[in-house]
Amino acid sequence: MRARGGLAAALAGAALVGGVSGCSGDPETKIVDATAVEHGAALFRDPSIAETSFNHYSCATCHEAIPGEAGGALLPGAPLAGAVNRPQYWGGQEVDLLAAINHCLYYFMTKDLPWTADDEAAQAMYAYLESLPGDGDAAEAVPFTPVYALSPPPPGDPKSGELIHERACGSCHGRAHSGEGRLVARAPALPDQTLDEHPLGEYTEAERLLVFVEKVRHGGFVGYGGQMPPFSLEVLSDEEFGDLLSFYELP
Ligand code: HEC
Ligand code: HEC
Repeated sequence: MRARGGLAAALAGAALVGGVSGCSGDPETKIVDATAVEHGAALFRDPSIAETSFNHYSCATCHEAIPGEAGGALLPGAPLAGAVNRPQYWGGQEVDLLAAINHCLYYFMTKDLPWTADDEAAQAMYAYLESLPGDGDAAEAVPFTPVYALSPPPPGDPKSGELIHERACGSCHGRAHSGEGRLVARAPALPDQTLDEHPLGEYTEAERLLVFVEKVRHGGFVGYGGQMPPFSLEVLSDEEFGDLLSFYELP
């Protein structure tokens, strides 16, 4: 909570960011005034905030600012309207908003150094999040239940699974089978490329299935590594996951 207060207080002195470029006699002069809120809104959608070419995600890849704005997408992170008022984050594992954001910058966006409360980007992001309509339910802690056990869900309906692929996986992995339109080059075409990389003979059917279950439920955590976010039970139920695996014809 300490850094959260610090962030808000620091913000009071930083109403304006952006700047004036060029000099006054120059016909090319563009005056760029942006409020902290506008700056934060742009940063929210900008992968370059991680300051590494290794990152392709923006905050908006995984979070809606306002619930519903990403259509029917199943995004791994919670909507962020109301986040400044929540008592805790990451399913109760974090109480500090800036730290909650820094986890994402570090684990998913591979940013080397965390934001501090003095960073202009952190202040602009705070101003933006604070500007979102976030009273009532939006200010409640968001449930987040990671799945540790690696028991595959029961098989489901492949037709529904196709839609789950589009809503939950397609943003990064592109179209099923071909990978067309993928956001991250190293995100494999699902399920084909992952199955090719785990050939039968070297792997059993059960192990190949487990690659999907473990990756989806643990993301880069619990010893797996990589930049994929985990999908909690709230975001992707076992029933939906079963539909998805049946669409992939797994096992
Ligand atoms: C690759 C996906 C991904 C990216 C990119 C990402 N996040 Fe997250 N974020 C998550 C997941 C997963 C969680 C944990 C679930 C949850 O609590 O929302 C999380 C949690 C959070 C939380 C805590 C929310 C809560 O109420 O528990 C905040 C705040 C947050 N992220 C902000 C950001 C911001 C700001 C950015 C951009 C700088 C960002 N995230 C980028 C996936 C991502
Ligand atoms: C925010 C981007 C993102 C989303 C959304 C996403 N993935 Fe991934 N996934 C990746 C990346 C990047 C990799 C490459 C390895 C790494 O960096 O984690 C990957 C790798 C994988 C792998 C390969 C694991 C291995 O060890 O060979 C599987 C399987 C997988 N994802 C399944 C899924 C499924 C199923 C979904 C939807 C429920 C999904 N992913 C959603 C980014 C994403």
